[in-house]
Amino acid sequence: MAVRRLAAEQPESFEFTEKNLGWAKKLIDRYPAGRQASAVIPLLWRAQEQNEGWVSEPAIRYIADMLDMPNIRVLEVATFYTMFQLQPVGRKAHIQVCGTTPCQLRGSEDLIKICKSRIAKHMHEISEDGMFSWEEVECLGACVNAPMVQIFKDTYEDLTEDTFNKLIDDIAAGNEVTPGPQNGRRFSMAEGGQTSLTEIDDNTKGDLPVPHVVDGSEKASHHFAGASINTGGNDYDGVPTPAEDSVAKVKAAFAAKSAEKAEAPAAAPAEKKAEAPKKAAPKKAAAKKEAAPTKEAAPKKAAAPKKPAAAKAKAADDAPAAEKEPEVLTEARGGKADDLKKLKGVGPKLEATLNELGFFHFDQVAAWGPEEVAWVDSRLKFKGRIERDGWIEQAKILASGETTEFSKRVEAGDVASSKSED
Ligand code: FES
Repeated sequence: MAVRRLAAEQPESFEFTEKNLGWAKKLIDRYPAGRQASAVIPLLWRAQEQNEGWVSEPAIRYIADMLDMPNIRVLEVATFYTMFQLQPVGRKAHIQVCGTTPCQLRGSEDLIKICKSRIAKHMHEISEDGMFSWEEVECLGACVNAPMVQIFKDTYEDLTEDTFNKLIDDIAAGNEVTPGPQNGRRFSMAEGGQTSLTEIDDNTKGDLPVPHVVDGSEKASHHFAGASINTGGNDYDGVPTPAEDSVAKVKAAFAAKSAEKAEAPAAAPAEKKAEAPKKAAPKKAAAKKEAAPTKEAAPKKAAAPKKPAAAKAKAADDAPAAEKEPEVLTEARGGKADDLKKLKGVGPKLEATLNELGFFHFDQVAAWGPEEVAWVDSRLKFKGRIERDGWIEQAKILASGETTEFSKRVEAGDVASSKSED
């Protein structure tokens, strides 16, 4: 990328027009006191629009004063982003050719040769007729459609030497041109057409780029992509950006799909399993209201040990065959629970979870078979830990009154509880 310097020749002064000044004050008011510097990019953009498509040094100082910023800070912004032009540009089009690796591998050097032969030998020089200028820039975020160029707010992608020459010809002749891929594909979709999200009919209408004449008038348009982005998207002019529009379409399509699923008579086993915890939730929540709520407690609530018999049976029916609800208790026998933290892999959080599920004693854990393990496992945050840490084997030993190496360490107080839960 070229060094970005201010133009050698600068105007004497710069100030916003009355209309732009009113707009600027309103914009600055959006930011909290002391944070007005956040408005620097939209202000620079508006200054560029007002100044025939480039930012002058007096404009930088003017904006710095307006935002109470050191001049150097505004200069840094203006010289960093290639969206800001630092010297006069062609009257009809300033062509920014992406020269970063993907575009380079796909032919951007050929596009640059065309710029050199048809516009001007060097970047930022204006063509003899004053209509065009060009520069090489870094990635403009359309790599999947490489090689590409940007002209004001629009990008022209999937270019070849022929299509790029034609683009320049059309702009010079005042013909309409259409932004986006120039090889017929839509956005970054596969060249053969839509291969995913096919339920979304997004291929024929909507936010397709609009053909238009590139005549330099966009230099003074407040609908520049950059202006929209930097002033908060559709908040700027009330018009949703294409990206926002597409997001809305995708959301609507998924909402419709979800609604269809919800209406389907037979739920898939996986969905049934997901429903089981919900059914139990109200009960569990009531029962364990006093227990310290933890993140891990949420799924447990679903397993609610205190469900009525009918609900329990229903939940069991709904559960996949591989799961079976173990015997659970509503409280510890005799009011005294075993210290489940003596099981390696169980810390305070997991112990609270197990208690909420209705497990308070080693003999309960020792009695779990594979189906019960699957039931409990599906209600824990990380599946597989029961088997991985050997809870059942440990529980059998502890239930018999014996100790394990780990339980001895817990009793001695030399085990960090959180560590045992990793
Ligand atoms: S490399 Fe050219 S747009 Fe990203």
